[in-house]
Amino acid sequence: MEFLKKLGIKKKNLGASTGLKWYGSESNDELKIYSPINGKYLASVYQANEKDYEKVIAKSHEAFMAWKKIPAPLRGNIVREIGNKLREYKDPLGKLVTYEMGKSLQEGWGEVQEMIDICDFAVGQSRMLYGSTMHSERPNHRMYDQYHPLGVVGTISAFNFPVAVWSWNAMLATVCGDTNLWKPSSKVPLTAIAVQNIVGQVIKKHKLPEGLFSLVIGKGSSVGEKLINDKRIPLVSITGSTGVGRKAAQKIAARFGRSILELGGNNAIILTPDANLKLALPAIVFGAVGTAGQRCTSTRRLIIHESIYDNVKEILVKAYKGLKIGSPMDLKNHVGPLIDKSSVEDFKLAIELAKKEGGNVLFGGNVLSGKGYESGCYVQPAIIEAENHYSIVQEETFAPILYILKYKGNVEDAIEIQNDVVQGLSSSIFTDNMQEAETFLSHWGSDCGIANVNIGTSGAEIGGAFGGEKETGGGRESGSDSWKAYMRRQTNTINFGKDLPLAQGIKFDI
Ligand code: UN1
Repeated sequence: MEFLKKLGIKKKNLGASTGLKWYGSESNDELKIYSPINGKYLASVYQANEKDYEKVIAKSHEAFMAWKKIPAPLRGNIVREIGNKLREYKDPLGKLVTYEMGKSLQEGWGEVQEMIDICDFAVGQSRMLYGSTMHSERPNHRMYDQYHPLGVVGTISAFNFPVAVWSWNAMLATVCGDTNLWKPSSKVPLTAIAVQNIVGQVIKKHKLPEGLFSLVIGKGSSVGEKLINDKRIPLVSITGSTGVGRKAAQKIAARFGRSILELGGNNAIILTPDANLKLALPAIVFGAVGTAGQRCTSTRRLIIHESIYDNVKEILVKAYKGLKIGSPMDLKNHVGPLIDKSSVEDFKLAIELAKKEGGNVLFGGNVLSGKGYESGCYVQPAIIEAENHYSIVQEETFAPILYILKYKGNVEDAIEIQNDVVQGLSSSIFTDNMQEAETFLSHWGSDCGIANVNIGTSGAEIGGAFGGEKETGGGRESGSDSWKAYMRRQTNTINFGKDLPLAQGIKFDI
């Protein structure tokens, strides 16, 4: 395949890199990658082992000693070049994202666009790493705070956004003066290798330190554990399930490391009697079936006022009937495959559990077979009438299942249902009623990290801080002032007088 060649993906690839060199050996465990689109073999990776990890982290740590001394705007210039390289490779990289992960080609390209956008954002940020100045209570004293580089930043990314989420972390960390160590999901390592090759070109051209951008592809139980427990990594950013995040965060905290957690979501859209259904319908369907329901921001629950419930049910089923399911390389299709067969099992199990608890499957829920579906990863998106308290509705199933729930009363009743889950990532309301919209956004409204009005739950822009509350983990990545997490803050007080007054008026004469 032409795009694999363009991206420097070989049939057999090593699993560890410092940006300049590849490490590992052909005697390491071989990880074979098959496309969920058609089940065809793509390429293999010799997974990094603990020895390879040691080589790479040592280089990243060494690189930090040099990189932190570079002025931030000059670091930004490097990120600008990475952004330009990504522009050059947008087409093949987008295609590889689609081929390896299974999301639609529009979304594959969109993911690379997110990388380009965060590069632009980070370049600007490199001149805006602002601290504050404060007025000292002591005469002839000046006080301010400033932000300094932190160290090697570890990024553990999930299969569903194989490249964009890394870039949110890495591009900001880089302008902040940090170096990077990336452990991608073992389900999608080829996209990570492609990105490493692209970034490697910039590293070589500018003779940047080896280890500025490092990569380890390997097992969670070996290199993942090492990364989490490594004192040389002061910050680990983790995107993944709540279960994985809960365990990792405890280990990181035990060594006083920091973590940015972006874990599970259970995102809802509220439809009030004042909802504009023309706007709401495409937002709901894209949110629920886009990326085959495998975004952390995917719409999982639809909370509908009883007065419009039957009408919404009808138009929704009609829309689902028109969905085209098939290869995501074909731009006409709306829904591609799930990442693998074990996800298909999770999908089937969730539907069974929902039925057992009293759920009513209004549409879909089948696994597709036959021509075009040979990989066994294609499913028909499901709509299930359910109640919020069902244990399966309380869970995040990474698949296209939309639970529809009825509410009575006013918008506060709908918000109560929405908030009544352990996760707190994304939320949205469709209404043309100002009181309802503002109540939803108020301090007693949605408890999520993202709350939208008249747009869906997924598809956030990079300019905002991305992340959520409760068991979503509380971390923020990407825009706004998320950059602060990648730096250490220092408060400075300078005495330019001839006396030494103590704060709080304390007297201490010697
Ligand atoms: C994720 O699913 O991990 O808001 C990230 C969105 C995307 C990012 C999702 N921009 O849907």
